[in-house]
Amino acid sequence: MKKVGIIGVGEYLPKKILTNADLEKMVDTSDEWITTRTGIKERRIASSQEATSDLATNAAKEALKDARLKPQDLDLIIIATITPDMQFPSTACLVQANLGAKNAVCFDISAACAGFVYAIIVAQQFIARGTYKNALVVGTEVLSSITDWEDRSTCVLFGDGAGAAVLSEVKSGGILSTYFGSDGSMANLLMMPAGGSRNPTTHKTIDKRLHYIKMEGNEIFKSAVKIMVDTAQIALKQAGLKCSDVDLVIPHQANVRIIMAMAKRLGLPSDRVFLNIEKYGNMSSASTATALCEAVKVGRIKKGDIILLDAFGAGLVWGACLIKW
Ligand code: UT7
Repeated sequence: MKKVGIIGVGEYLPKKILTNADLEKMVDTSDEWITTRTGIKERRIASSQEATSDLATNAAKEALKDARLKPQDLDLIIIATITPDMQFPSTACLVQANLGAKNAVCFDISAACAGFVYAIIVAQQFIARGTYKNALVVGTEVLSSITDWEDRSTCVLFGDGAGAAVLSEVKSGGILSTYFGSDGSMANLLMMPAGGSRNPTTHKTIDKRLHYIKMEGNEIFKSAVKIMVDTAQIALKQAGLKCSDVDLVIPHQANVRIIMAMAKRLGLPSDRVFLNIEKYGNMSSASTATALCEAVKVGRIKKGDIILLDAFGAGLVWGACLIKW
């Protein structure tokens, strides 16, 4: 088996900023409620010209440049998203065309907020076995397209963005361990009920606002901390490491209270937890992806550091990836 590492990262955030003050004018909410309950101050919103593949393409270009690779060098493109440009073809194929990555095999992964971690784990298998040399994975979402802007319990939470990573064989370090899991018995807690084969789009489904995110936030909150802690501990155990060995955790950015409760239970000081939720809200698969990219860009990740990606989301699904940078 070959060692697999991340050799380049990139991100793209749409220009438009929607602040908590803006939301106060749209629904019955307050900056105080959103800040204290979630840690979010503002989020980005894609323009009407920008689809999920456009965000992904921009992030991918930055990651390829960082990795010093050309689009033709890619053997595999995996896009993690719950907001594809359309039901089919895959967003990965659209990104392939945008990049001109004509040698790549392309497909999407639907694993909600854990999608970026899932995509890394899948890409790793192909490279470790020597099937492929270079893989691009992107967490990319235009959640604003499925957000009910009249529902204050969800619309204050989400944002748009994309983060990308290029995986390749590395001489030292790289991915030390991975762990992922799923529990479909809790699928009802977070979903978009219509627009698929269960409830195809009709005037009725639109009138009932079923093409928007529906979430039982409280119920998810109860499971979230335990899932993230257990996931981290399993990945650490597999690598023979302890929490104190971790230099930086890149958690899914759903709620700062979930993240800090997780850190406390793991015995991790807050300065070893990377946050970007304040600026971007919850971007599902793009949250861990952009957070990883930003942590690299601002120098919070140095060569030799032990990094833990830890995510959970709708499904429910969860995943962790321990990396020596
Ligand atoms: O991405 C992965 C999956 N998602 C998550 O991990 C999300 C997990 N859940 C959460 O982060 C939290 O449950 C939320 C942020 C969604 C909600 O926070 P909470 O502290 O659990 O609030 P709550 O749902 O218990 O609501 C408390 C109160 C309610 O009012 P009453 O019934 O106590 O009078 C809500 O109606 O807050 C009210 N409320 C709001 N008030 C002002 C709900 N949304 C808002 C709002 N502004 N935007």
